[in-house]
Amino acid sequence: MSLQSDLIHVFNGIPFTTRSSAELLRSLDEFQARHDDLLLVSYPKSGTHWLAEIMKHLYSSKVSITSPIEFGNVSKLEELSNIPTKRIIPTHLNFNMLPADFKAKKCKAIYIIRNPKDTAVSLFHYYRDNPNLPTIEGWGTYFDMFLHGEVVCGSWFDHILSWEEHRNEMGTLFLYYEAMKKDIFQSVKKISHYLGINITDNEVHEICKKTSFSEMKNNVEKENTDPNNTVCSLTSNKKLIFRKGTVGDWKQYFSNKQNRLFDEMYNTKMDSSNLAKHIHY
Ligand code: A3P
Repeated sequence: MSLQSDLIHVFNGIPFTTRSSAELLRSLDEFQARHDDLLLVSYPKSGTHWLAEIMKHLYSSKVSITSPIEFGNVSKLEELSNIPTKRIIPTHLNFNMLPADFKAKKCKAIYIIRNPKDTAVSLFHYYRDNPNLPTIEGWGTYFDMFLHGEVVCGSWFDHILSWEEHRNEMGTLFLYYEAMKKDIFQSVKKISHYLGINITDNEVHEICKKTSFSEMKNNVEKENTDPNNTVCSLTSNKKLIFRKGTVGDWKQYFSNKQNRLFDEMYNTKMDSSNLAKHIHY
C-alpha cells in the first residue's frame, strides 16, 4: 500500500489520518498549556485506553479526559481552552511535534510502552477492522510498512526515541504494558505516586478490578459509542479497542524471517536507548 490514500496525509514526514487536519497540526504550537495539564502519551495500540481508565478512577470526576490533541480540526484548541477542570490530554505525537507550551510549563507526562511486536499485531488488526484506516493487503505487506514507519503515527522506534531523548525536560514517567499486566497493583501505586495522589491499598485494589480487560470490554459492549469519547485518534468505535489484551500474541504472526528482520532493526535503532533495558522485548 502506498502512503497516499484518501484517509491518510503525511505531515512532517509522519502519516496521519485525515481525522487530524493539517490546519490543526500546523496550529499546535499556538496551544496554551496549563501547569496542571497531564499528558497520556503512546504509540497507538500500546494500552492508551487502559491507562486513561486508570486515570478516570484515580481522579474520580474532577478531571476531563479529552480526545487526543492532534485529533480534529483547528477548533480543537479552542474546545480544549474552554474545559473548566484539570485536563488529561492523550497524544500520539512524537516529542518534536508536541505543542511547545507543554514543554515550557513542564507538564507531567506518562508514556506507556508495549512490546513493539505485539503493538504491530494489534495495529494490524486495527487497520483491518477500522473504516478510518486504508485497506491493507495482508500481514506480509503490513509487516514491512510497520517496520519502516509507513503506518499511522510513523515509526515506533522514532516515536519512543524522541520521547526518551527529552525525558528529563518534563520528567516523563515511562510505564510498560507487560509490567502492568504482571502487577497492576504496583503499577497503579507507581502512577499515583508520580501524580502525588494519596490512595489506600483498598482503593488501588478497586481500581485494578474496574480497569481489568474483561471489565473494560464488558462495559464498552453496553455503552453507546460516542465518537468523541475515545483516547485514540484513529477510531470512533471503542469496540475495536478491546481485542485480546494479551502478551506475546506476535508469535502467532511473525515468520522466522520477519522475526530476524525485526530484531535487526530493533537492535540497530535501540542500541543507545536506556529504556531498552526495561522494554519487555
Ligand atoms: P490487543 O489488540 O493486542 O488486544 P490502545 O488503547 O492504545 O489503542 O491499545 C489497545 C490495546 O490495548 C489492545 O491490544 C487492547 O486489547 C489492549 N487493552 C485495552 N484495555 C486493556 C486492559 N484493561 N488490559 C490489558 N490490555 C488492554
